[in-house]
Formats: sequence, C-alpha cells, structure tokens
Amino acid sequence: MAKKIYKSLPDMGKARNRVDRPVLRREDIIVPASVSSYAEGRKFFIRTFGCQANVRDEEIMAGYLEKAGFCRTNEAKEADLAIINTCAVRENAEEKVYGEIGNFKANHLRDKDFTLAVCGCMMQEEGVAENLMTRYPFVNIIFGTHNIDKLLDLLAEHLERKKDLVDILSFPGDIVENLPSTRLDSYKAFVNIMYGCDKFCTYCIVPYTRGRERSRSKEDILAECRELVEQGYQEITLLGQNVNSYGKDFQDGTSFASILEEVAKLGIPRLRFMTSHPWDFSDEMLDVIAKYPNIMKCIHLPVQSGSDVVLRRMGRRYSREEYLRLVAHIRERMPECALTTDIIVGFPDETEEDFRATLSLCEEVKYDAAFTFIYSPRKGTPAAKMKDDVDDATKHRRFDQLVKVIEKGVIGHAEKMVGKTFAVLVDGPSKKDPSLLSGYTESGKLVHFRGPSQLKGHIVDVLVKESHTFSMIGELTEDPLLLLAKDFAKAFQNEEVVIRYNEAMKAFKKSESVQRLRDELEASQRALALSVKEGKDEAYLGAKKTYLALKEKYENHPIVMNLHSAQEELQRELDLIQEKLP
Ligand code: SAH
Ligand code: SF4
Ligand code: F3S
Repeated sequence: MAKKIYKSLPDMGKARNRVDRPVLRREDIIVPASVSSYAEGRKFFIRTFGCQANVRDEEIMAGYLEKAGFCRTNEAKEADLAIINTCAVRENAEEKVYGEIGNFKANHLRDKDFTLAVCGCMMQEEGVAENLMTRYPFVNIIFGTHNIDKLLDLLAEHLERKKDLVDILSFPGDIVENLPSTRLDSYKAFVNIMYGCDKFCTYCIVPYTRGRERSRSKEDILAECRELVEQGYQEITLLGQNVNSYGKDFQDGTSFASILEEVAKLGIPRLRFMTSHPWDFSDEMLDVIAKYPNIMKCIHLPVQSGSDVVLRRMGRRYSREEYLRLVAHIRERMPECALTTDIIVGFPDETEEDFRATLSLCEEVKYDAAFTFIYSPRKGTPAAKMKDDVDDATKHRRFDQLVKVIEKGVIGHAEKMVGKTFAVLVDGPSKKDPSLLSGYTESGKLVHFRGPSQLKGHIVDVLVKESHTFSMIGELTEDPLLLLAKDFAKAFQNEEVVIRYNEAMKAFKKSESVQRLRDELEASQRALALSVKEGKDEAYLGAKKTYLALKEKYENHPIVMNLHSAQEELQRELDLIQEKLP
C-alpha cells in the first residue's frame, strides 16, 4: 500500500495534561458495509501483552469484530486480520512486540488482503508509530488506547481508501458505555471500574498511555456485574490502575468502598479488585473487605521499594513506616488476609543501603507473592532523566537476592497450607500437566489436583497435601460425581417443568378437600383388605364399590389431576436427559 495517512500522533506533553473533561457516551455499534463484506469467512487473531486493562481491551475489540461477522482463531498463521495489543511498561515488554509483528510477515506474503493492526499502550509513546510504519511496511493500522471504540471505522477507512492509517489520540476523551465484548473466560471476569491514572509515579508510563483518571458510573458497573452474576460467573475482579481513587472525579463523596460493597451484595461468589495504592487505602475499604465473605481476603499492595529516599524519588507518597503500619492494620483486622506486591530494583541511584531496606521490608512483611522488576527507564517520565550510577551487574545481583528473600516468605505461607482444606475455583486442566486440574484458592494460591474436567468453573474443597512454593498439590475432599450431581440438581431447579411440579405438589399438600379424600380412600382400602381377609362376599362387594367410587373421585379431583400431569411431564423430561447422557 503506497501512501500512509497520519490522522493523529501522540504527544506525551499533552498526555501529561489533565485538562480534558471526559463525558459519558453510549455507543451504538454500526458495522460499516465495507467491514461486514470483508469479515465474511475471515478470521481474526489478537495477541495481547501487558496488564488486565489490555486483556479487557482485547475482549472489547473481539466483541466489535464478532459483531462485524469475523470468526476468532487462536492460530496466528490462520489469521486474515491480526491485532497486536501492546504494553509499554518496561522495555522488555516492548521488545517482544517487535518479534510478534515480524511473525505476521508470512500472513502478509500469503494473502494480499491480510490486515495487521497494532494498538495499545506502546503506540501512545512518541515516535513508536512512525518507526513501526517505516520498519514494517506490512503494518496497516495503528491506533492507541483511547480509540479502540473506533476499531471498525478505522478498518473501514483502511479498506475503502486502500491506505495504511495511524490514528493515536493524546487525550482519552469520552467514557464509552454499551461497548460490545466477548469475554475470554466463562467463569472469571474483569470489570473496569475506572480508567487511567493520575498518580504519576516518576518511573511509570501508564498515566501517559492511559490518560487521566476517570470513573465509570456506579449504575453502569452494577449493571455489568449483575449480568455476570446472572450468567453464572463465579469471580469478578474490579479493575483500575488505582481502584482506591474510584469516584473521586465525581466529587460527590462516591468512594471505592461503596462500589465494592454494592458489587459484593450482588452475590458473586468471589470478588477481587486491583490495584490498590497504599497511599489512599481507607479504613472504610478495610471495613467492607472484612465484612463480606465473598470479597477475597487477598490484597495486592505494591510497595515498589523499602527505602524512604527511593520512595520519595519515585513519588509514591507514603513512607516505609506508613506502609508497614497499613500492613499491620490489615493483618489486625484480617489475620488470614494474603498480601502481594510489586517491587522495582535498581531505581536510579539506589544505594546498597536503599536496597537492604527493601530486603528487610520483605523479610518483615513476608508476602504471599511478589512481582519483581528491574527498573526500566521510560522515555518522557521524570525518572528517565535522573542520574543513575548503578551498573547493570549490580542491578541483576540485587534482583536475584530479592527473589530469594521473597521466596522464603512465600514458602512459609505455602507450608502452613499443608494439611488444610481450601475452597478452589477450578480453571480446568492444568497447563503444565493436563492430567491434573488447576485452580486458585481465595487467597490466590495455585492448587493442582485430580478430578474430572467438568469441574471447570466450580468452587470445590481441596485438601492440600504438598507445597511446591508457588503451587500446591491437593486432593478433592468430596466425590466429584456427587459434586456434579448436586450442581445438576441445582441447575434443574429453575426448569419450567420442575417449577410446575413443585407448585402442583404444594397445592396438593395444602388442599384440605384432597387430603380428606385421600384419608377416606386409604380407609376404604383398609376396609377392602379386611373384607378379603374375612371372606364375606357381600361385605367385600360393598367395600370394593366404596373404594372404586372414592378412587375415581380422588383421581378426578382437579388438584390431583394437575399433580399427575406435572409428574408425567417431569418424568418425560428426565427420560430425555437420560437418553442424552453418555
Ligand atoms: N497501577 C498499578 C500497576 C501498574 S504497572 C500500581 O500502581 O500498582 C505494574 C508494575 O510495573 C508496577 O507496580 C511497577 O512495579 C512496575 N513498573 C512500572 N513502571 C516500571 C518501570 N519503568 N520499570 C520497572 N518496573 C516498572
Ligand atoms: Fe503507574 Fe503509579 Fe499509576 Fe501505578 S499508580 S499506574 S505505578 S503511576
Ligand atoms: Fe502495560 Fe498499559 Fe497495562 S503500559 S501494564 S498495558 S496500562
């Protein structure tokens, strides 16, 4: 394709600005004719890098593409349309993207109509889109994080004008609702409660790539969660770069604690949230987490560093002491609460003393899990301009040392689990060993155990037998067939035939005239039996006549007739189900 059209390019200076006022827009999905005819018989493929915000964006893009008529494929080679959804948080995340783009050259060579789109956080960085367009001439569309709702329009423009396009906005603009979405999991769902980040930690690119903090309305969040509960979802994770800030932009006292509580009340079996910044973790939040058993007692509380000097330079707005006080406070309220974290080693000019402070903090907190990263300078962020005299070898040595200290804490927690039973939400066959099932406990520990694959999506009790640091080996405490049978009966409760049968039975038991008739019928049956025993023909004939008359009256009673027909209907339904069973 000869000419490229640069509709708009990102400007990180503008992206830093918080002047825009997002408004709410409800999306009507219109599929352009050029897109629906292109979609016919074609398959799309999406590769996502980065965090849950990107995963949720993938689900929305998949929703748009399926509405347009594309089918999904998980085989990159088969794709007629591929989207690479990128992350910019660290340099290594970016390097993977270049490799991935290169993989699609074959699709381009095989099919001149193949379309390759690249989107996501990395595209929001200055210079990246132009570089991609020059280095990879087979990239057709580049867009950013703020216009994924324009996916079909951009595709239409590319198809109709036969031009490659770049359209990246620096401001987020509207909060778009009624977005289509095809969820990747049928039991666990992510729900965005807010977008963007205003924290501007000095090392972090996210506030530039995702724009200002903006909350979705409570009504929209609750409607989405309610629908998930109705569809049988077992777990919802409320998403935001910093969920504690939820609702602050409404300036009406709305808080994260209130939305968390309202979602918990909808009755989803498991509710999680991420990420919460230690700085504004309120007591009100803690009260709600402690109060509702369906809010998982597992908090991701990124500390980043244990040194006050580094924390200040990172712009994290809390001290080591404040963080440790918060940890103690959480554990006082909920001693069983799991804590996980993110840590960066090798921040510019991190001294050995700073690093030791991080080690000692980890020794003290004993995290259940931690994500550790070596600092990666991000162009355009304040930390990228800071002086850094620490060499790479030192950074790697510190990283290895930190991982060892964290592992000790993790092992400590894991070993305490042996011999105890935990509720596990089954994800399905384990990726490592498909003969085992895998799932997570409420506190987020991975457990492997034997069981039928039909248990996927069920919450089951598992006795932990062995600890392997980052995962456990366990055993189901209940017979899996009984578990499935219970589930089957529960599902059947809402079937129309069962409801009708239950109502007919209720009316039968409640009706005095029917019960009287039944008593009389039973008495006549006893009299008949007695007359047979006594062998007197006359008495026998009289008793039989009475019995038959009562029987007819009983069987023709409308309530009894109704019960019998409901029973027959239920029996027919059960026979049909039995036929279908293997
Ligand atoms: N909003 C979340 C997480 C954002 S990114 C939060 O504040 O916790 C996830 C993690 O990536 C961060 O917690 C941080 O530990 C790490 N990270 C972010 N920028 C980084 C950088 N420039 N170099 C290395 N790690 C980084
Ligand atoms: Fe980045 Fe800090 Fe915002 Fe998290 S809170 S996304 S680390 S700027
Ligand atoms: Fe990466 Fe963007 Fe998430 S930079 S971590 S995908 S918000």
